[in-house]
Amino acid sequence: MNPKITRFLAEQKPATPCLVLDVDAVADRYHALGKALPQARIYYAVKANPAQPILRRLVELGSCFDAASWEEVSLCLQAGASPDAISFGNTVKKVSAIRAAYEAGVRMFVFDCREELEKLAAHAPGSRVYCRLLVDNYGAEWPLSRKFGTTVESAKELMLAARELGLDPYGLSFHVGSQQLSAEAYEVAIARAAALFTDLSAAGLDLRMVNLGGGFPIRYRDDVPEIDHFTTAIFRAMTEHFGNALPEMLVEPGRFIVGEAGVVRSEVVLVSARGRKDGLRWVYLDIGRFGGLAETENESIRYAIRTSRDGSPTGRVALAGPTCDGADIMYEKTHYELPLDLTAGEQVDLLGAGAYVSTYCATGFNGFAPLTEHYI
Ligand SMILES: Cc1ncc(COP(=O)(O)O)c(C=O)c1O
Repeated sequence: MNPKITRFLAEQKPATPCLVLDVDAVADRYHALGKALPQARIYYAVKANPAQPILRRLVELGSCFDAASWEEVSLCLQAGASPDAISFGNTVKKVSAIRAAYEAGVRMFVFDCREELEKLAAHAPGSRVYCRLLVDNYGAEWPLSRKFGTTVESAKELMLAARELGLDPYGLSFHVGSQQLSAEAYEVAIARAAALFTDLSAAGLDLRMVNLGGGFPIRYRDDVPEIDHFTTAIFRAMTEHFGNALPEMLVEPGRFIVGEAGVVRSEVVLVSARGRKDGLRWVYLDIGRFGGLAETENESIRYAIRTSRDGSPTGRVALAGPTCDGADIMYEKTHYELPLDLTAGEQVDLLGAGAYVSTYCATGFNGFAPLTEHYI
């Protein structure tokens, strides 16, 4: 566990549930990725954690930003980001959001269909646009496929149409799925993008940019490959498919930049087997699926857990949240063991919780207040 966070928790004893995040650790991850893939510009995916201390630090470091909504664009501007450093990276945008971003000076937008392209032509004229390709999310623990992206054939027509509509057809993007454990996913997607670059060039349109998306994994319960494993494979694939004519490269990491920098501290509300024949102890925390742990859906993201009783003998548990909703269960099938002497009132920490927790948190489901946030 991060020593700065350990000290903060010991000294401040913040009310739970809360997220404590070390902003210096965010800067370290930003530098680590920049060093591993110096050819790419980093557009931090704001959705992973839009807190001002994070955005301000990233602005200082020269990061660019991938925003999913006008609200996120506005948070970046508030943190001091220049509108040129912001990409409006959601393929589904309200006209009012496109207009607000355009009026604020944002000139880079994604799309994946004719209908969205027409909205951009009408409300963000002359902007740089890039088309999101549909790619396989196989290997990702938190897949994003199906909902976004288009086929290579349709992307070709759309990029040609973008030019006709007075937009600047800038490049292509993809997202291989979040917490992606396989570097091959990037290689396959790069090959697909490169083939389309060649095809479009033959049709008289030269694209300039490939946005490699996010997806880089972090350590939860299990080790994951180091960032170099992914960036080496990415750079090899880029040079293999584009040769010396490398396009501009962008990455949009979210989880990788902030995930390991944060810890959620929670309190045990109840421990009981409730007379069940299987004897399984249920540990109910003061945070659950609706308090920010949404990525435990299907038990996909499996947080590493530390307790105030670590070192005592352990036994199998199911972990659940505090609400009256039957879906508010984090882990029932996944094998988790916690100390046998863990009881109500004691602390449970979830490590690697800096990404996709504070923003997934419902504001008052069952009356529970959202988790508090501490940026240190
Ligand atoms: C368009 C886009 N870019 C980047 C990201 C960040 O992905 P990750 O947190 O896996 O790096 C996401 C995540 O949902 C996304 O939708």
